[in-house]
Amino acid sequence: MVTINLRTKSPKAKISRLPSTLELDTSGTVKDLTQAISKATHLGPERIRLTLIDNTLLVSGTPLEKYDLQDNSIVYVKDLGFQIGWQTVFYAEYGGPILLHLIFYYCQSAIYGRTFEHTATQKATFYMVMLHFAKRELETAFVHRFSNGTMPLFNLFKNSAHYWFLSGVSLGYFVYKPNSVPDLPNYLFYGLIGLWIYAEVSNFITHLIVASLRPRGSRVRKIPFGYGFTYVSFPNYFFESLGWLAVTLFTRSWAALLFFIVGSGTMLVWSLKKHAQYKREFGDKYPRNRKAMIPFVI
Ligand SMILES: NC(=O)c1ccc[n+]([C@@H]2O[C@H](COP(=O)([O-])OP(=O)(O)OC[C@H]3O[C@@H](n4cnc5c(N)ncnc54)[C@H](OP(=O)(O)O)[C@@H]3O)[C@@H](O)[C@H]2O)c1
Repeated sequence: MVTINLRTKSPKAKISRLPSTLELDTSGTVKDLTQAISKATHLGPERIRLTLIDNTLLVSGTPLEKYDLQDNSIVYVKDLGFQIGWQTVFYAEYGGPILLHLIFYYCQSAIYGRTFEHTATQKATFYMVMLHFAKRELETAFVHRFSNGTMPLFNLFKNSAHYWFLSGVSLGYFVYKPNSVPDLPNYLFYGLIGLWIYAEVSNFITHLIVASLRPRGSRVRKIPFGYGFTYVSFPNYFFESLGWLAVTLFTRSWAALLFFIVGSGTMLVWSLKKHAQYKREFGDKYPRNRKAMIPFVI
């Protein structure tokens, strides 16, 4: 048995009823510690995040011995707030653009005040967007294996706002409006569709590789190898960006450009953070020459 100190990182994040110390049997797992804190604070265990002084995350189910907790060790406790199932968040965030593109594409007179024949560029963009988000919905249902069953409720609004406004309302409104851009010459028209298909299929392959690392129901993390992982830690982000770059060039729309920039910027920041985490987690075993997201660059 050891006596650990429980703290919150800042007075603002104070948790009422959080005991300052806790007697802990270190032969148990992180889940036991979370449950003890849950009992004392009356917060659901899914809301509780535990870290050590060096920011190491205490992963649920992991034996406590792994974290070498001693008498007076400090464990930081964070209340993540109300939680919601991650699949619900994903279904909602990707469902929005599907619905909005259907509206902008099929309700011309209500939105643009008249009906007109869509150009080949508009038709192809519609199918690309539909297929992209249908793929994301299907991956949510059948491919991804997230380690956390839930996310903070706020993510539902934050993530949905990103997709609903940037890839839904603004992209849909401007791409399907009358007199939008002229169609590209055939070699560019089909060349960019080809690039988009390559990016989507590659993104799907990388998602399959990552999902294959984790037995269903577990939280196992391994080093991914093969396909784009030879060059970067997050080829899934790279291919996702490449797909939106193809859409941006295809539509020549500032709305597509904005979504491409914001989405790629976000993924780049995430990839740098997660790349550093891979190196911390796997040390010398992690392939040295791998970049974070863009092969040979960053
Ligand atoms: N267009 C945009 O604005 C935009 C922005 C972001 C993402 N996206 C799309 O959404 C996709 C998913 O994004 P994400 O941030 O969730 O991707 P991610 O961090 O690569 O994770 C994808 C899935 O793989 C799991 N995973 C990751 N690394 C693993 C490892 N080493 N071992 C075992 N499992 C591992 C993750 O579980 P954990 O729960 O353990 O992380 C998660 O279930 C992206 O690939 C991209 O296509 C689009």
